[in-house]
Amino acid sequence: MTRLLIRDLRQVATPSGRNAPLRGPELGHVDVVEDAYVFVDDGAIADVGHMRNLRAVAGGVDELDGRGRCAVPGLVDCHTHAAFAGDRIDEFALRARGASYEELHAAGGGILATVRATRAAGESGLRAAVARHRHWMLRSGTTTFEAKSGYGLDRETELASLRAIAAAGGVPTWLGAHAVPPEFDDADAYLDFALAEVLPEAAKLAEAADVFVERGAFDVEQARRYLEACKSAGLALRVHGDQFTEAGAIPLAVELGARSVDHLEATSEAGIRALAASDTAAVLLPASALFLGRQMPPARALVETGAAVALATDFNPGSAFTESLPLVCSLACTQLGLTPGEALAACTVNAGHVLGRSGRKGRIAPGYDADLLLLDVPDWRYLAYHLGGHLGIDPIVGGRRALP
Ligand code: NIG
Ligand code: FE
Repeated sequence: MTRLLIRDLRQVATPSGRNAPLRGPELGHVDVVEDAYVFVDDGAIADVGHMRNLRAVAGGVDELDGRGRCAVPGLVDCHTHAAFAGDRIDEFALRARGASYEELHAAGGGILATVRATRAAGESGLRAAVARHRHWMLRSGTTTFEAKSGYGLDRETELASLRAIAAAGGVPTWLGAHAVPPEFDDADAYLDFALAEVLPEAAKLAEAADVFVERGAFDVEQARRYLEACKSAGLALRVHGDQFTEAGAIPLAVELGARSVDHLEATSEAGIRALAASDTAAVLLPASALFLGRQMPPARALVETGAAVALATDFNPGSAFTESLPLVCSLACTQLGLTPGEALAACTVNAGHVLGRSGRKGRIAPGYDADLLLLDVPDWRYLAYHLGGHLGIDPIVGGRRALP
C-alpha cells in the first residue's frame, strides 16, 4: 500500500505557511480546512483539500473513513529522557510531603537513583523500557520523539541508551553531562573520561549533545568544554539551562550556535532578549515546572520578543513523569498564556525544527511526512482544551495507522 485517502474529516488543522521556526505573531496562525480530505502518497502528504474538490484518483488507493474526526499534525516531542529504568515513586511521595527536588538530589537520590536502576537494567532491559515508553508516547499522539541518554554515565550504559533510543525509532541525544556519577570526585574528572572514552562512539550514534548547566551539575566553563568537543565531533548542541538558577547557559548556547536552551523557568529579561535575537530556540517544559511545583517559564515574553518557542514534555521519572504533549498544550494555554494555535505550532513545526527536521515534520502540507493524528473531537482545539481528557487519538505514521 503506498497511497491512502483519508476522507470526510471534520477539520484538518495545521500551522500555516512553510517556514520554520515560526516566531512572534506567525506562531499562532493555523490553517483549518473544514469537511476535508488528506491524500497520502508513498509516506508523504500529497494533497489536502475540501471534500467538494476531491477528484477521482486513478489506480489503487486505500481509503480511510475520517468519520467526522479532526486531523492535526503528529506531535513532535523534542525533549525527553525516555532511556531510563525503574521509577522514583518513593521520591515522589517524599516530595508530596515537602522534600525538595534539589535536597533529594544532594542526598544521592534524584538523577543518581535512576542512574543506579538504569545501569542495573542491562541493554535488553533498557531496550524494553524505551520501547514501552515509546508506546506510551504514541498513544498520547507523539509520532516523532527525541530521547536523551544521561542515566548511564558510564561508557557501556550511555552507548546502550543511545542504541535503545535509535532501535525504538527515536532521535538520540547524548546527555553525557547530566550529573557527576559517584565513581568520580568532581565534574572535571568525569568530563575528562566522558570526552575521551564515550564521545568518539556517542558521536556515531547520536544527532546532538546536551548538558545540564546548573549549580550541583556542570558550570558554564565545564559546559563550554563539553559542548565544544561535541561540536567538533559533529554533533548538534542542546542545553538544559536556567531551570533553577541563571548560570550562564543562554550566552554560551547562543555563542556556540546551539539548537536550543531548554527549561528557562529562571530566565530573566536579558536572557529573553538574547534568545530572541538568536537562532537558538527556547524549549519550554511546563509539565516539569508543574511536577516540581516551580514557577513557569516566561513564555509570553519569549513569544512577544520573537524567540523561536517550542514545547516538550521533558518526560523522565523524576521531574516530569508524563509522556503527554496534549497535557503540555493544556498547560501552555492555562499556565503560559499561549493560544491553542501557538501551542500546536510549538509542539509540531517548531519542535521539528529543533530536531533538524524542518520541512519534513510538523505540518499537514504537501511534501511533509504523512504523520498525523485523527482526533475524535468536534474541534481541533480540544487538543489543549480537554485537560488530561479523552481525545480518541488515532495516529497515522508514514501514511499507516500506527495503533490497532
Ligand atoms: O530535565 N534537569 C535535569 N534533568 C531532568 C531531570 C532528570 C531527573 O530528575 O531524573 C530534567 O528535568
Ligand atoms: Fe530535561
